[in-house]
Amino acid sequence: MCGISGVVSFHPIDDRLYEGVHHLEYRGYDSCGVAFLENRHIEIRKDIGTVDEVDTKRNLRHLAAHVGIAHTRWATHGKVTRENAHPHTSCGCEFAVVHNGIIANYKELREELKKKGHKFGSETDTEIIAHLIEEHFVRCGDVERAWVGALRQLQGSFALAMISPHEPEHIFCARHESPLIIGVGAESNYVGSDFNAFIDYTKNTVILDDGEYGVVSKDSYSVKSLRSGDVIDKAVTVIPWDSELSRKGGYPHYMLKEIHEQPQAVRTALNIASDDIATVADMVMAAKRTYLLGVGTTYYVALYGQYILATLADLDVSSVSSDEFRYIDKTDASSLVLAVSQSGETYDTVMSLRHAKERGAKTAAVVNVVGSSIARMVDHVILQGSGPEVCVVSTKAALVQMLLLTRLALEIGVRRKVIKPAKHREYEAALTALPGEIETLLNEQSGIIRAAAYRHAHIQNWLFLGRGIYYPIALEAALKMKEVTYIHAEGMPGGFLKHGTLSLVDDKLYTLVMAPPPSCGELHAMTMSSVEEVKARGGFVFGFSYDEKDDIFSERVALAPTHELISPFLPLVGAQLLAYFTATALKRNVDKPRSLAKSVTVA
Ligand code: G6P
Repeated sequence: MCGISGVVSFHPIDDRLYEGVHHLEYRGYDSCGVAFLENRHIEIRKDIGTVDEVDTKRNLRHLAAHVGIAHTRWATHGKVTRENAHPHTSCGCEFAVVHNGIIANYKELREELKKKGHKFGSETDTEIIAHLIEEHFVRCGDVERAWVGALRQLQGSFALAMISPHEPEHIFCARHESPLIIGVGAESNYVGSDFNAFIDYTKNTVILDDGEYGVVSKDSYSVKSLRSGDVIDKAVTVIPWDSELSRKGGYPHYMLKEIHEQPQAVRTALNIASDDIATVADMVMAAKRTYLLGVGTTYYVALYGQYILATLADLDVSSVSSDEFRYIDKTDASSLVLAVSQSGETYDTVMSLRHAKERGAKTAAVVNVVGSSIARMVDHVILQGSGPEVCVVSTKAALVQMLLLTRLALEIGVRRKVIKPAKHREYEAALTALPGEIETLLNEQSGIIRAAAYRHAHIQNWLFLGRGIYYPIALEAALKMKEVTYIHAEGMPGGFLKHGTLSLVDDKLYTLVMAPPPSCGELHAMTMSSVEEVKARGGFVFGFSYDEKDDIFSERVALAPTHELISPFLPLVGAQLLAYFTATALKRNVDKPRSLAKSVTVA
């Protein structure tokens, strides 16, 4: 999960490579670099640090060159050093390569190349690609043939871009199991890991599929099959997003902006055609067994889906973390795998889907990024339309995914006659009210939550508890806290607490409890009993609660009364704010927390 950007243009590159990788920094940001052609020579500028830090040291802007590639790295093979930063070059510096993915057979290839006299300057798997191209070029004297010859030797996953003074008007690019797209502009063409690389310049993209490579020049491009060499006629996809949507728009961080975009994102998702939801409902109804997949936040979304389908549709589905799916996958032609993914590129989820497809299973997905791998590989996709989510931690995308799974559960509940028409109308009205209720919470409670976050920012250990459908919400809230503050936060079901973890309760560990409205009856009562258990051991309990009679909390954020159906969403938004403000109190790198990448496209 690194970011690739490239420009080939009638005009000087100027700042376009810098901007490209800047907008891709959410994919990785431990080092970065550019390669461009100047007087038929490759010039490399790279170093460790963020794009801005490297720009200060090495100057990545104001480039007069007309062809260049750039990369922002999230280390997989080799430490974070200047040597390991991309681009990488061949011995004679005639080929410069940037890469996202993992070359599985790089050790064997490296040994072979070493025997042939190649000298390596880095510990990366990527560098062998530049040397391999060089090796082929020495034999055939043709860059494209050398490129293809080298790619055919690679095993594993790759998105690649390459430049060479032997073809000074071209960028070569390729894709296999890692995303890469071409941007088709006016008097300039682009390559990128995704359209953030060039969204300021063009919305027209050509999406490479696995096993395809592209040759891009300033006024044309061609896409060919890596296996046969045949030219492939590719459609141009127009990206529906505006570059303005990717900017901070006055907010100090993307995370806060995206939290505030949730009411609008929910409205958009409520307007997604019922037919789209109905198609997935048909698939669920037809399947003998449905698996809900996601990883990280989207696993918790999938778990939420399991609860909401059980609750509203009386339907038993299994939620599985995508990285674990391969170990228990028993899918066949009677199964449905329904994946959830913001990026649509997450390796574990892509691979699980691919595996299930090979076994004959039907596939569907809820995805935010148009044209992404998952969006294109499944039998049916619901595009959630939440707009770009730039902050590495997911907020609006996850909440909207939960909403869409709620819509799916309602549809299936009606078909299975679990939900009567009057109840259905009541549920629909509750969903329609959700954007306004999130707005109210953001307007009225942000200040209170901010003050609490600053007061408690010194606490190093948190337990996040929820029961029933509040359990996946508690898990997701704890993940938000961990991701963005680096504070330990452990989510668990309220009932689980007394089976061990209660031993940790003391005055240094704080507990956060998501309390349902009192109309939830037993669920509410049981949740409050968990509060009692912690309080009885002298623990501090911070509560998101709907009922002013919930007065046993040490500290309580009062939520306005709402319908049960949408009640889990509001404490989730509250917990997003708590994580955000705790991170700002601790001066964390909110939009790019350490050791995280937005789109994990490696195993
Ligand atoms: C990474 C991100 C998480 C995200 C997960 C799944 O771990 O840091 O924020 O939840 O990938 O990503 P996806 O794009 O498939 O939703």
